Amino acid sequence: MERSAILFAALLFAVFSPFSRAADLKGSFDDNFSKSCPERNFKTSEDGQIWHLSLDHDAGCGFMTKQSYRFGWFSMKLKLVGGDSAGVVTAYYMCSENGAGPERDEVDIEFLGNRTGEPYVIQTNVYKNGTGGREMRHSLWFDPTEDYHTYSMLWNSHQLVFFVDEVPVRVYKNANYSNSFYPDQKPMYLFSSIWNADDWATRGGLEKTDWKKAPFVSSYTDFNVDACQWKDPYPACVSTTTDNWWDQYAAWHLNDDQKLDYAWVQRNLVIYDYCKDTERYPKLPEECWLSPYA
Ligand SMILES: *[C@@H]1O[C@H](CO)[C@@H](O)[C@H](O)[C@H]1NC(C)=O
Ligand SMILES: *[C@@H]1O[C@H](CO)[C@@H](O)[C@H](O)[C@H]1NC(C)=O
Ligand SMILES: *[C@@H]1O[C@H](CO)[C@@H](O)[C@H](O)[C@H]1NC(C)=O
Ligand SMILES: *[C@@H]1O[C@H](CO)[C@@H](O)[C@H](O)[C@H]1NC(C)=O
Repeated sequence: MERSAILFAALLFAVFSPFSRAADLKGSFDDNFSKSCPERNFKTSEDGQIWHLSLDHDAGCGFMTKQSYRFGWFSMKLKLVGGDSAGVVTAYYMCSENGAGPERDEVDIEFLGNRTGEPYVIQTNVYKNGTGGREMRHSLWFDPTEDYHTYSMLWNSHQLVFFVDEVPVRVYKNANYSNSFYPDQKPMYLFSSIWNADDWATRGGLEKTDWKKAPFVSSYTDFNVDACQWKDPYPACVSTTTDNWWDQYAAWHLNDDQKLDYAWVQRNLVIYDYCKDTERYPKLPEECWLSPYA
């Protein structure tokens, strides 16, 4: 393509894509994130736009946003640990606290590594006030270790949608009863980390991390946050006005194309759904009765 054509395409994309409105977090890493890892476990590309987090026998690595947000669009591109990644988990999540506090709200995407040639699994979960147990597991339709793919979360007072590239793989609805199991009260920070979870992650903990293969490296780029940045006591963007696209009617439910994609995912890629696990939940949690198509 000619340069002008590329520019034009980029402009069109800029006008019509919700992604473009994202305040992307380029600039320097330190402006928007703080990290907690030994120097050797965090590297960036020369231009600073790609971040490599690694796990070795002594340490993992993680970072979090300096700001917290309530509702919005959170997105990034990830390329996961290749080769033998059994036992290694790369996580990308929102949480109201820095730590596993007993009253935290949390929304997770975890990428569960596997032995060479065996498929990655993504696990998603939702916590409210310290309680989780809302796991789903999906397989992917591509090898997430070969290229960068976009993983995103849309969060408003009606629904939480997990996207892989443009495909909504999971929809979590707000029942909107008083005290329903939906994290909508607490602003959350965005986190990412790589860690050893070989006690549960791969084949239920049977496959252990092979430390001879360390360091394990996951790479990140194109972090986008287009969200209501929290300010005490209450930022204007959290008010009932629907000034922001992520709060508007169109973002309260999937559109028709997204419904088709979502149905395809449901038919083909779901490995585990807590809402079908009647052994674990003889009485299914209330949100299981809400239609993701509504
Ligand atoms: C990133 O950090 C800058 C400087 O502190 C701040 O102005 C900006 O709002 C932050 N971006 C987001 C999306 O939080
Ligand atoms: C949240 O959890 C804490 C500790 O488990 C409990 O004391 C509190 O009542 C809960 N709050 C709500 C609103 O459910
Ligand atoms: C929840 O219910 C209240 C009261 O009926 C209503 O005002 C509000 O708009 C509802 N919110 C959502 C997210 O449906
Ligand atoms: C790892 O590969 C095995 C064998 O293909 C598969 O059963 C399992 O679901 C994969 N993922 C995890 C996280 O165990």
